[in-house]
Amino acid sequence: MATTVTVTGAGGQIGYALLFRIASGAMLGPDEPLRLRLLEIPQGMRAAEGAALELQDCAFPLLADIEVTDDPRVGFDGCQVGMLVGARPRGPGMERADLLAANAGIFGPQGAAIAASAASDVRVVVVGNPANTNALIAAASAAPDVPADRFTALTRLDHDRAIGQLAATLEVGAGEIDGVAIWGNHSATQFPDVSHATAAGRPVLALLAERHSGAEAAERWLDDEFVPRVARRGAEIIEVRGSSSVASAANAAIAHVRDERAGTTGRWVSAAVVSHGEYGVPDGIVCSYPVTSDGSGYRVVEGLDLDARARARFDASVAELVAEREAVQRLGVV
Ligand code: NAI
Repeated sequence: MATTVTVTGAGGQIGYALLFRIASGAMLGPDEPLRLRLLEIPQGMRAAEGAALELQDCAFPLLADIEVTDDPRVGFDGCQVGMLVGARPRGPGMERADLLAANAGIFGPQGAAIAASAASDVRVVVVGNPANTNALIAAASAAPDVPADRFTALTRLDHDRAIGQLAATLEVGAGEIDGVAIWGNHSATQFPDVSHATAAGRPVLALLAERHSGAEAAERWLDDEFVPRVARRGAEIIEVRGSSSVASAANAAIAHVRDERAGTTGRWVSAAVVSHGEYGVPDGIVCSYPVTSDGSGYRVVEGLDLDARARARFDASVAELVAEREAVQRLGVV
């Protein structure tokens, strides 16, 4: 039986970087046939249809079927893996409240369509920004038919960016780094935390102290260079490339779904999941944590020590998430 994967915003840039890798088997594995449902709005239909033509021309052996639609009920029919990429970007002069309202108009109806027509084992990752709060809105709109913890938001790109920065600084392979965590919101307030990280089995903090002649200098480097660079990497990419992060975002979305389904074999990744109060985050907020999966969904890594500096940064990011939830509560959507 083919697995049904729904990609929204399939006619956009990330969609174009995502679809071919999904169809090649990079996300579900080499033994799992799949059916793609591409959901767009009317203005994006031609671009999505064009991508579908190219997918056909790739003759991917695993790709059983492709459907392109602008009807969410059709797009989510039988959906088992939902990748919600399409979102309303911030327009000129748009306030955050307006942005949240515009996206509530997208993710509310999509959550309702998921409840109405997706498969009973559906899992959803929200990529479109503001990703955490869009996931909260979709989960609230799919309740009570779909359990809230089936909805996650993408912070894997931030996680992988943090690993990339550490690997370059410590001159080790990215695959040798474990224990990185992204806490909070997928926004500039996020806290990329390396205090539990190891590189080739050695504590990253000790390795940084060696490189920066002492623990204090290492901490300054983390505060003044590492954290801002990871949190603002999207802007850096736009400045250098002249266009937003697309291939790396698509890669992170694929890794998020792949690792949630296949399991992380004890390694940590980061994902925004519905809080059940872990680390004092209010219930129901979609918050990024270090997580693992045994193949049945992401679970928060619990019991970690957060020092005062880490706690203050995490709390600031959670405060932003709480403010976003209050803004959408005022709109009456959650
Ligand atoms: P894009 O503008 O190229 O594509 C977005 C597509 O979504 C367009 O084709 C548009 O027609 C479609 N769309 C809009 N509303 C829709 C709806 N209601 N249903 C279905 N499709 C709809 O944007 P791009 O570069 O592909 O980025 C997509 C989103 O991903 C943006 O919100 C961006 O901010 C976000 N993003 C998130 C990252 C993360 O780490 N969470 C990283 C990078 C981007």
